[in-house]
Amino acid sequence: MDATDGLPILKLGVEDAIAGLALSTEAHWNQTEEDWRIFLRDGVVFGIRDGMRLVATAALLPYSGNNAWISMVLVSGTHRRRGLATRLVDTCLETARRNGLTSWLDATPDGAAVYGPLGFTPTLQLRRLKLVKPSRAETPPTSSATVDALRARDRRATGFDRSALLSAFAQRPGSRIVSANGAIALVRDGRTARHVGPLFANHAAAALALVDVIARSETGPLLVDAIASQAAFLEGLTASGWTIERPFQRMRFGPATAAGEELPFAVAGPEFG
Ligand SMILES: CC(C)(COP(=O)(O)OP(=O)(O)OC[C@H]1O[C@@H](n2cnc3c(N)ncnc32)[C@H](O)[C@@H]1OP(=O)(O)O)[C@@H](O)C(=O)NCCC(=O)NCCS
Repeated sequence: MDATDGLPILKLGVEDAIAGLALSTEAHWNQTEEDWRIFLRDGVVFGIRDGMRLVATAALLPYSGNNAWISMVLVSGTHRRRGLATRLVDTCLETARRNGLTSWLDATPDGAAVYGPLGFTPTLQLRRLKLVKPSRAETPPTSSATVDALRARDRRATGFDRSALLSAFAQRPGSRIVSANGAIALVRDGRTARHVGPLFANHAAAALALVDVIARSETGPLLVDAIASQAAFLEGLTASGWTIERPFQRMRFGPATAAGEELPFAVAGPEFG
């Protein structure tokens, strides 16, 4: 038996945002302290401390229609392969079960190795792409759209009502909602790169045109989490300098609930779906 086997699972509070950020930063993830505050304030975050130090987390963020997103499954490099992630995800699942929620997540390849044995089944695939930008923008910011338009489109596509989440993103300094030719996307700050998504469009050409307009008005690196089956979108991005960083596998635990009417081109992020 390892010394960490008996460490209790705790419910974390907003005061743990900085400690959570240290874990996501150790994993080279893009979340900000503000992102952690969303999980700690609007969801439930379970954690394990070794002494004073937070060494593992997992979050459950409830969405509408008896759905919840599991994310921020992080174990410090010093504490891996001791079953901590399994225990924390089990605790999230137990919480979801007690509340009658279907759980969803977007898994890294390492994460998928943990979730498969727990009973998660794969649904769609995502690809994270990165664009390294020159430091000078070529064009001024593009026309903005309302958060109401984004919320309505997001609801149609995902089947979830994520008004609170999208409003919180939109209110942050540096966020903008951009729209053209029937396509709409949110751009927000991240720790190491600005994130483009969710992004909805009627066809790949409109999605690509919007990403191009965004990229030409931005000054730093950009990330997009694209739905892998949007093949023309992915091809267009890689042809214009975006590189694929890593895959994510969307997985579900429980009955299918959310029936989206359209497929997004890019999601809000693997931690939010
Ligand atoms: C993925 C991660 C959370 C796993 O945490 P962990 O506490 O080490 O996981 P567990 O000890 O509960 O692993 C349970 C099982 O999952 C599998 N597994 C876990 N990590 C694995 C890896 N890197 N490669 C292959 N299998 C792995 C193994 O079958 C393991 O059982 P075993 O150790 O008896 O062989 C951790 O490696 C991590 O924080 N990685 C970086 C962030 C990340 O990718 N998070 C997942 C987001 S979806």
